[in-house]
Amino acid sequence: MTYQSKPALAAEATPIVEFWNETLAPKFVAFRHILEGGLSRHSEKVMPMLDFRPGDRVLDVGCGFGDTAIAIGQKVGPEGSVLGVDCCDAFLQIARSRPEKGSARNVRFAVADVEQGLSGATYDAAFARFGTMFFANPVTGLRAIRNALVPGGRFTHIVWRQREDNPWLVAARDVVQSFLPAPDPALQSCGPGPFSMADQDVTRAQMAAAGFTDITFQRVDAKVSVGRDVADAIRFQLAIGPAGETFREAGALAEARRPEIEAALAELFREVSAREGGLWMDSSSWLITARAPD
Ligand SMILES: C[S@@+](CC[C@H](N)C(=O)[O-])C[C@H]1O[C@@H](n2cnc3c(N)ncnc32)[C@H](O)[C@@H]1O
Repeated sequence: MTYQSKPALAAEATPIVEFWNETLAPKFVAFRHILEGGLSRHSEKVMPMLDFRPGDRVLDVGCGFGDTAIAIGQKVGPEGSVLGVDCCDAFLQIARSRPEKGSARNVRFAVADVEQGLSGATYDAAFARFGTMFFANPVTGLRAIRNALVPGGRFTHIVWRQREDNPWLVAARDVVQSFLPAPDPALQSCGPGPFSMADQDVTRAQMAAAGFTDITFQRVDAKVSVGRDVADAIRFQLAIGPAGETFREAGALAEARRPEIEAALAELFREVSAREGGLWMDSSSWLITARAPD
């Protein structure tokens, strides 16, 4: 497998990998409480549906802060093992220092750009929570995952469904873009983006081209928390996701209009349901399963 024992910014790092490490990592770390404590609530619905068996060797692709890798480690038990891979070393440092990691001896983490390839045919199952939508070339990344599986190995990934069913990401973008121009699609970014696998037919074709069989899609709707309160939600949206990208790319114009934008976002988030110490909005994803051929 193309691990690097050192942080990811090797000379050959692709622009997308550089972008994750240099631009997004500090923002994701700053808003970990929302990403892990809020968006991961989506997984409370998904994790019980996953088919991991005691003894499985599992790959967690784009594992981020490592919470799913550790949860899977508990499912596969001491006879099984989990390797979480991510192109961003800052996330893996957090993953390795999680308190639960101490008792999760069967879970390891390694830096890897999945699109550069993974070593062959050693995993019984692979999993990715919102980790496949950013591949510059989705078929290349998906094929690398398929090649890492044993014949008949299982793959499950979760990707966001269409924008209309994900107001948690889109409503703030619409507000921000009523003040600022949409970002130039040619600018450097995180990759194809959170909705790049929303179209079932396109994603099915990409997975088939990568060599997967028995591809199934299941819709999962869940509330996610987008901030502890209105101020937290505004800060989060202006840093991460489509609203954050719009704000960042607008530069000085964005700063000049910040007071109006924040006031409009405050109005948006005041409408949002507040409970359990957070603001909750609708989200919708695909739970996609497939197998490597026997
Ligand atoms: C939206 S985050 C999801 C993180 C985590 N799975 C979770 O659900 O919290 C996407 C993750 O994919 C990683 N990623 C993006 N492109 C990658 C690539 N080519 N190879 C490995 N990881 C990648 C990013 O660094 C990031 O951690």
